[in-house]
Amino acid sequence: MPDPKTLSADEKLRREFNEWAEQGRGEEMENHHISITEQTLAMMDLKQGERVLDLGCGAGWATRLVARMVAGGERPGQVIGLDVADEMVRRARANSKDCDNALFVVGSAQQIPWDENFFDKVLSVESFYYYADQERALAELFRVMAPRGELYILINLYRDNPYSLRWASELKVPVQARSEQEYVDLLQACAFEDVRAVRVPDLTPTPAEYSGKWFANADELRDFKRIGALLLIARKPDVESPPRGWEVE
Ligand SMILES: C[S@@+](CC[C@H](N)C(=O)[O-])C[C@H]1O[C@@H](n2cnc3c(N)ncnc32)[C@H](O)[C@@H]1O
Repeated sequence: MPDPKTLSADEKLRREFNEWAEQGRGEEMENHHISITEQTLAMMDLKQGERVLDLGCGAGWATRLVARMVAGGERPGQVIGLDVADEMVRRARANSKDCDNALFVVGSAQQIPWDENFFDKVLSVESFYYYADQERALAELFRVMAPRGELYILINLYRDNPYSLRWASELKVPVQARSEQEYVDLLQACAFEDVRAVRVPDLTPTPAEYSGKWFANADELRDFKRIGALLLIARKPDVESPPRGWEVE
């Protein structure tokens, strides 16, 4: 049994999220993320025939929503759900037997197993803050996105929503807690264009009484939902990325 201290960051994430998957948490996350995801999908303006990547797809519920929106078209629309946790991917496949334009792949955001210049749009829901090397993940996204492709990264955990930092210390894997401005700067430094940050409130009703452990009372929970998730939007410039392995001599 390898010493957990020497495991790679991705292997730690794989093990952690495989446990979540075995506990049924992959499917449960739909209830927690559906409101912010639906608002994001509306902004993505998905069209028939588009090729979409769902990065950190979990049990695949959002992948299937996207698949329905891009189905059809002269060049059939398709969506790839990618996740580092193989048990999440196994469940996503089992949950998606009726969905013939979604494909689920095991792999890391830091080494995306796909061709250059392929995806018209990328969606990533509640996954990006887990990546140990976010710059490398952005470089990989840039590589696999089509020229003028659009990136939509949605995260609930970021520095400007102080409530969200409460659960960072309870997670068994490290997380990044950058601010909105730091993320905007990072996307620009990674050569993305038209970088914007939008706040997406959680519009689900809040019960009158709160009995969970993260908030002191229902008012705090309401405030957390009002501050909302951070949606980072960016575009790849109108350039083709060279194939992987291309280097300046
Ligand atoms: C909080 S869950 C969200 C899952 C799904 N997007 C949803 O909203 O239900 C985070 C997901 O990101 C995946 N993930 C974490 N690190 C990853 C990485 N480096 N590459 C790919 N996926 C990763 C996890 O395995 C997990 O399924």
